[in-house]
Amino acid sequence: MSELHDDIGEVLITAEQIQVRVRELGEELRSDYQGRSPLCIGILRGAIMFLADLIRACELELQIDFIAVASYGSSTRSSGVVRILKDLDEDIKDRDVILIEDILDTGLTLNYLLKNLKTRHPASIEICALLVKEGKQKVTVQPKYKGFDIEDRFVVGYGLDLNEKYRNLPYIGTLKPELLDIEYT
Ligand code: IMP
Ligand code: MG
Repeated sequence: MSELHDDIGEVLITAEQIQVRVRELGEELRSDYQGRSPLCIGILRGAIMFLADLIRACELELQIDFIAVASYGSSTRSSGVVRILKDLDEDIKDRDVILIEDILDTGLTLNYLLKNLKTRHPASIEICALLVKEGKQKVTVQPKYKGFDIEDRFVVGYGLDLNEKYRNLPYIGTLKPELLDIEYT
């Protein structure tokens, strides 16, 4: 067994469960956006796995772009102050935008991004989040598309990291308690 797997306390969502759900979401998007060509915006870096699998499960003439943000704060807690590190390459005016995010925790990151992107006058903008932490949102951000609700625990894998580690795990799991930032509650 490799070192990465050794750090995992519990597998919450298996690779197979992720793939099944992603296929369902891809089908949902295909049916909702029929005849249109949405711009799928992946929020770097956590959303890359999800975006890559989702767009392959979605038979639409879509495009992709990426935006990178940094949230000030510790590695396991979001502060709500967000800074754009890499902006979009595409102009989103009059486009149907789908914001693809790995996890909706406090909602502060997506709330900020939504506000920012709306000032650029897209035709529509919806959120597609792989994970939503139950009861954690500090602001109302409604993802129209959602993979899974999860309890409030720090998770890694399938794009999600702790200090840039564990993104390449094919499943989503929790870390052994001794590996977690003590600040995370
Ligand atoms: P929010 O602004 O609190 O909604 O946090 C959103 C960002 O925090 C996500 O895009 C993740 O990068 C990170 N994040 C929140 N919860 C977790 C977690 O459980 N594991 C890994 N990253 C997380
Ligand atoms: Mg992160």
